[in-house]
Amino acid sequence: MPEERFITSELAAREESFDATLRPQCFEDFPGQEAVKERLGIMVQAAQKRSDPLPHLLLSGPPGLGKTTLAHIVANACGAAIKATSGPVIEKPGDLAGLLTGLEEGDVLFIDEIHRLSMTIEEYLYSAMEDFVIDIMLEQGAGARSIRLDLAKFSLIGATTRQGKLSSPLRSRFPMSCRLDYYNSADLTTILQRSVGILDVDAEEAGLSEIARRSRGTPRIANNLVRWVRDFAQVKAEGRITEEVADAALKMLDIDVDGLDEMDNRILEAVLHKFGGGPVGLKNLAVAVSEETETIEDVYEPFLIQEGYLMRTPQGRVATQKAYERFGIEGGPKADTVQPSLF
Ligand SMILES: Nc1ncnc2c1ncn2[C@@H]1O[C@H](COP(=O)(O)OP(=O)(O)O)[C@@H](O)[C@H]1O
Ligand SMILES: [Mg+2]
Repeated sequence: MPEERFITSELAAREESFDATLRPQCFEDFPGQEAVKERLGIMVQAAQKRSDPLPHLLLSGPPGLGKTTLAHIVANACGAAIKATSGPVIEKPGDLAGLLTGLEEGDVLFIDEIHRLSMTIEEYLYSAMEDFVIDIMLEQGAGARSIRLDLAKFSLIGATTRQGKLSSPLRSRFPMSCRLDYYNSADLTTILQRSVGILDVDAEEAGLSEIARRSRGTPRIANNLVRWVRDFAQVKAEGRITEEVADAALKMLDIDVDGLDEMDNRILEAVLHKFGGGPVGLKNLAVAVSEETETIEDVYEPFLIQEGYLMRTPQGRVATQKAYERFGIEGGPKADTVQPSLF
């Protein structure tokens, strides 16, 4: 239905502009990830001292933690122009060659979802990253010949939710690689304080920290939730976000006090009820909750593991004691599933 599609794309566009309004432009406005910021700051200063382009940089971590934002901040800090694309968009070597030859010295090329580049494109990227040249094959078969194009010294920033899915030759061509972790609720509260300032929303700190605690450690989720809580407050509470208002608004979305959302709960319940606490393989688990294996691995599992509800063992996923307790189930993980295997 065209109307529906229009509405969806309209929503997506609004979502994007909301993201853009709240996206910090400099390190000072980017709370959290202290170790990563420190490393990146040194990298930027060193490159500037030597008047060199930035070394290629790989950013990894679950969605919504600030990879795209940091790529732009790093480029801004060097006064570099940034061109953004993403792995699945680059289909042919010609697409890549077009992007690369359009870059000027010091420019940043940002490739999002870099683990989704095809093998062929990856191979072209090797010489581009290492020697700033690219050999393009013209014609096929007997008449085949290649020409070598010289490139300006650019910097590649790659982002991925899946560091492990990157081929090792590609990974090894990034002199610098940083992994982003989930945020603690103090940092998320600071992020929300900035957001409500920009959005001109009346909020108490206790209200914001309640939202922060229930945001799965993820700034993007925190920003989306604060928007919902603001709407709720306008309709039900004269516009002010207090702890009680935040709690009531989040309850309405089925977000519980531990910050687990509906899918987190479904995954844990499946492991506990359908698979007797595990171990269960990823594919079976995905089928049981009707979700893509990739989404479970990238989005849900890292958080459940960090929060201590789930374990990954060589035999599969296992629910922890904390998960049993959360759902009020007697017993706990079987002894042989939590002992590291001796063989
Ligand atoms: N440390 C941070 N401080 C403030 N806002 C952040 C931070 N990290 C992420 N955000 C916000 O969260 C949203 C998602 O960030 P983004 O960089 O797109 O994540 P990713 O690329 O890792 O999926 C953006 O709107 C950004 O404004
Ligand atoms: Mg991104």
